[in-house]
Amino acid sequence: MNSFLDIHTTEKSELRGMIESARRMKEARNGRPKGAPDDELPLKNRMVALIFEKPSTRTRVSFDLGVRQMGGQTMVLSGTELQLGHGETIADTARVLSRYVDLIMIRTFEEATLQEMAEYADVPVINGLTNRTHPCQIMADVLTYEEHRGPIAGKKVVWSGDGNNVCASLIQAAGQFGFDFTFTGPAALDPERVWMDFAREQGVAAEIQRDPAKAVAGADLVVTDTWVSMHDPQSAKERRHNQLRGYQVNKKLMAHAKPDALFMHCLPAHREDEVTSAVMDGPHSVVFDEAENRLHAQKAVMRWCLNV
Ligand code: CP
Ligand code: NVA
Repeated sequence: MNSFLDIHTTEKSELRGMIESARRMKEARNGRPKGAPDDELPLKNRMVALIFEKPSTRTRVSFDLGVRQMGGQTMVLSGTELQLGHGETIADTARVLSRYVDLIMIRTFEEATLQEMAEYADVPVINGLTNRTHPCQIMADVLTYEEHRGPIAGKKVVWSGDGNNVCASLIQAAGQFGFDFTFTGPAALDPERVWMDFAREQGVAAEIQRDPAKAVAGADLVVTDTWVSMHDPQSAKERRHNQLRGYQVNKKLMAHAKPDALFMHCLPAHREDEVTSAVMDGPHSVVFDEAENRLHAQKAVMRWCLNV
């Protein structure tokens, strides 16, 4: 039984296998209506619980659709509806859900909640985002990059903005998939050092460059995300905007990247804050392919978890 908790804790060969499996499944659906099932139904008779303690559009819809395309069924549960939100322990919730469902996906706040769920569940658990990481997003991003530009290994990937949960999973992926990573943003919002060290230990470059133009020079891929994440207090919004304004991804910044560089954003985007519409809707952007690829990547993750 495999849980998919983070990119740095999953073997490189397993990650690569999931990307290839996602690519094959996507290709096999060519021309098929979106809601139609796949030819193979590896999740037939399987029930998947999708737990959300935070809002979601992409994760919710893509997991639900992915399970259905593979012949399974879902229960979408909000944290507040469950007894989990009213004092029942995570361990007890995990034990109970394991008697009903075959797989659990959870989007939550603290990483400890995810880990406790995985520890006490008898079924695989998937990380659908915590305050600290967002591995499913980055699997979709690797799939998207490779679809457009071939192998990501050896490429230069630059993150501009807040060193947040999505950034953390991207740095882990640098180590696991073998690409160089540069962070540009204010020191107060640096990514955790442990992730930078992890990437370096795998033999890739993991650098911090405060000047965004210098950071983006020669980039193959430029990535950003919201300046205020769901777990950040709204009271921090003004300060963060002031700290991050200079790291907006706009046409001027993208001009420093390679001419064929891609731009990615996990979405939801705040247009004219972290990224301008000119970039979001411009020639470098693959943000909607990324969103679509959540579906294909997560189908591969779920098959890996259940070994089907
Ligand atoms: N990118 C992403 O995870 O989006 P949602 O918050 O809409 O699920
Ligand atoms: N960093 C964002 C990602 C949303 C998909 C957040 O945690 O709110």
